[in-house]
Amino acid sequence: MSQGVRVRGFSTDDIAAVCDLLRRLGGARLPVEPLEPSHLTELLARPAHAGGRDFRVAEASGELVGALFAARYTLAERPLPVREVRLFAPPGDAGEAARSALLDAALALDPDRVFRRVQDPGGELTQTLAARGFSPAQSVWVMTRRGVPPVVSPLPEGMRLRDAALPADTPALLSLVASAHRAAFGFGPMEAADLEALLRPPGARVLVVERDRRPVGFVSTLPTREALGVLNLLQVAPEVQGAGVGRVLAEAALHALAQQGFAQVQVHVDAANVVACALYTHVGFVTTRIDVVHERSP
Ligand SMILES: CC(C)(COP(=O)(O)OP(=O)(O)OC[C@H]1O[C@@H](n2cnc3c(N)ncnc32)[C@H](O)[C@@H]1OP(=O)(O)O)[C@@H](O)C(=O)NCCC(=O)NCCS
Repeated sequence: MSQGVRVRGFSTDDIAAVCDLLRRLGGARLPVEPLEPSHLTELLARPAHAGGRDFRVAEASGELVGALFAARYTLAERPLPVREVRLFAPPGDAGEAARSALLDAALALDPDRVFRRVQDPGGELTQTLAARGFSPAQSVWVMTRRGVPPVVSPLPEGMRLRDAALPADTPALLSLVASAHRAAFGFGPMEAADLEALLRPPGARVLVVERDRRPVGFVSTLPTREALGVLNLLQVAPEVQGAGVGRVLAEAALHALAQQGFAQVQVHVDAANVVACALYTHVGFVTTRIDVVHERSP
């Protein structure tokens, strides 16, 4: 371990210190959003995060100087499990020892063959990743919208908007994720427990458009972070795409968040997903950050 940096396992006792680190990094103008302890707790509860079993923290002189969030999941269409990694460390040379040590800890997580993905917001990791055989594979636009929501457009005839009712809607919504989202985004593992987790934060909603009582689209809203609402997982069944359903769901999600006092809303979208990028731009989002995802196959 270089320059006195020590990597150790994460425990729930570290939640406050990790949130504090993220806040400091955001203050250092790195593209890191603050994370509330309650939101980190939600994240840990996701099946792919397994309670933070594969999370790590880096310490130097008894102080927390870096964190690693790692998730592992399997996808129907990929023969190998996927390891997804995000690192947090101070910018520039000051954070290099922590970045290298955490990245090596991430690479050591899987004794078996896995497909690896590392998020690199701000390009801080590019050189460290290239030296380990990673190359850029995907750009994710982080888009933000401020101000009053737009008027909600009319839905095509025979469709109606309502809140999701779980578990009754669970199978239909999971099948929408499988048909709509995976085809467009390339990944997006989701299980019933993940869907339920979407509704756990106070005020979170899942809005559904249905036709003949069957959901044909949905969107989730997460009012989890201070002053920032999140529009998440917009999905429209392939057979009704292009008919205005996605637009209505995005507009309705903006209204749901505005009613809860969120004047600022964020969405993450694959830059190659031209339809979704156009939709979000049309309803007033602008790109405020680009996260590059680097990949390495075994
Ligand atoms: C992205 C998605 C939600 C859009 O839903 P949709 O119901 O097809 O979209 P809409 O019919 O409401 O169209 C909304 C806007 O998208 C754009 N759009 C729609 N179809 C398009 C196409 N084929 N090419 C380019 N732009 C298109 C248009 O800008 C349209 O705006 P307009 O009404 O002013 O013309 C849907 O395609 C989908 O579920 N895709 C897979 C999942 C996904 O990628 N989700 C987004 C994750 S961030």
